[in-house]
Amino acid sequence: MSFSRSPATLQNWSGSVLAVGIAANDPQGLIGQLEARLNSPLGSWLEKQRFQAKAGEVVSLQLLHKDLSRLVLVGLGDAPTADEPTADVATLRQAGAALANACIGLDGRAGVHLPWGSDGTRAAEAVAEAIRLSLYRDTRFRSQPEPRLQPKHFDLLGDLPADLSDALERVDAHCAGVELARELVAAPPNSVTPAALADTAAAIAAEHNLELHVLERGDCAERNMGAFLAVSQGSDLDPKFIHLTYRSPGAIHTRLVLVGKGLTFDSGGYNLKVGGAQIDMMKYDMGGSAAVFGAMRTIAQLRPAGLEVHMLVASCENMINGSAVHPGDIVTASNSTTIEINNTDAEGRLTLADALVYASGLKPDAIVDLATLTGACVIALGEEIAGLWSEHDALADSLRQAAEQAGEGLWRMPMPASYREGLKSTLADLKNTGPRPGGSITAALFLKEFVEGGIPWAHMDIAGTVWSDKGRGLDPAGATGYGVRTLVHWICSRADQASA
Ligand code: BES
Ligand code: MN
Ligand code: ZN
Repeated sequence: MSFSRSPATLQNWSGSVLAVGIAANDPQGLIGQLEARLNSPLGSWLEKQRFQAKAGEVVSLQLLHKDLSRLVLVGLGDAPTADEPTADVATLRQAGAALANACIGLDGRAGVHLPWGSDGTRAAEAVAEAIRLSLYRDTRFRSQPEPRLQPKHFDLLGDLPADLSDALERVDAHCAGVELARELVAAPPNSVTPAALADTAAAIAAEHNLELHVLERGDCAERNMGAFLAVSQGSDLDPKFIHLTYRSPGAIHTRLVLVGKGLTFDSGGYNLKVGGAQIDMMKYDMGGSAAVFGAMRTIAQLRPAGLEVHMLVASCENMINGSAVHPGDIVTASNSTTIEINNTDAEGRLTLADALVYASGLKPDAIVDLATLTGACVIALGEEIAGLWSEHDALADSLRQAAEQAGEGLWRMPMPASYREGLKSTLADLKNTGPRPGGSITAALFLKEFVEGGIPWAHMDIAGTVWSDKGRGLDPAGATGYGVRTLVHWICSRADQASA
């Protein structure tokens, strides 16, 4: 799929489908221009369709013109002011997704006319991203994929800066990262295994010249990663601790570490997932790792300056066999903390514990981990919003801002030290599981124990946002690729800061 800016107008653009954004009451008079072009009145037809140009509303009209086969009108809602009929970026993004869906069924060229506003580069970038991400389709596992027609090229029409080439390159890099994350999350657990994740890291490293170290079981044992290895010990598949590094050419000012939970399947272990716990969906328990893989893929393509970005994924399966963890086992993490595993289904935090100790050893300027960590977070925030925990206000704010720019939902949650009481064990330093109330808070407090004091650290619980059953906004049904765009915006903001 490709995009370009086009100098054509509503009067002379030709192609298969023309999509036009209309603000309430059409302050730009676009309907009139289209009537002139088509040489037929649209008003009564729009009334019959009850089109009111509300945000996200779409109508489409099949045409018999040789230079235009379909007209799509997308509502943009109330324009902020009468003389600046520009919708905000979030509305334009939603409009991009809606119009893209209305283009399905026609191939060839599409034209997209929107009120791009004063920051046309940013608006075009958001809309192109929305179009590509919402038309994404995963047919890898079909023996005979049903064909679907959709435009291969989108012309961006209207008042836009002359040169959009950098923005459109960013769109390609962002979408490639999100698509990689979606593919990893959607693939079943007999396809995306810990070894397959390590192979994916190797492919990214080879393509973009990144550094890769994969620690095998023995290497992890040498590093005393008793918490991570305990989770993997009931599986027939070998664990893989994956460390991928991007280094900017030239001077480096900032070192960042991204950590992703990489459970390629979570059965719950002997505290087995039963009725209603969605065991069949637990292939997506590597959603955190998918997000950090996707972000690395994007960063490797964008090559921001001044940065060293490390990705860590302690990947394994949580399974059951004769050597699996017993509920009640006590294990020792690589920072010597002893942990009583009172619930084998709280396995993600055990894998992250050793990854966070390793991350701290890199002496970074910041650590961010992403994990499908708790059902409690899904109950608290639902499908559209991930939870953010950090004791570092500046880091939390920069992540919230990145999520806002990326159009991904993120809400900061509290982590009161008093809740740590819930993790006290009578025998070991800690239990891995606290009481049910506030379950995502005690999970964050558990992770905190493994981050070296003083290193700014943030945790994102993406259990709710990693998957969308019905699809929504830019996300078709299935894996969303949540987190990639937030991370990329955040990393790039650190690059800009560093070079400023
Ligand atoms: N992977 C799950 C969390 C999860 C649940 C993700 C639902 C997506 C949807 C995690 O490993 C888990 O099982 N958490 C337990 C923790 C509990 C035992 C303290 C949970 O949330 O029930
Ligand atoms: Mn679990
Ligand atoms: Zn899990």
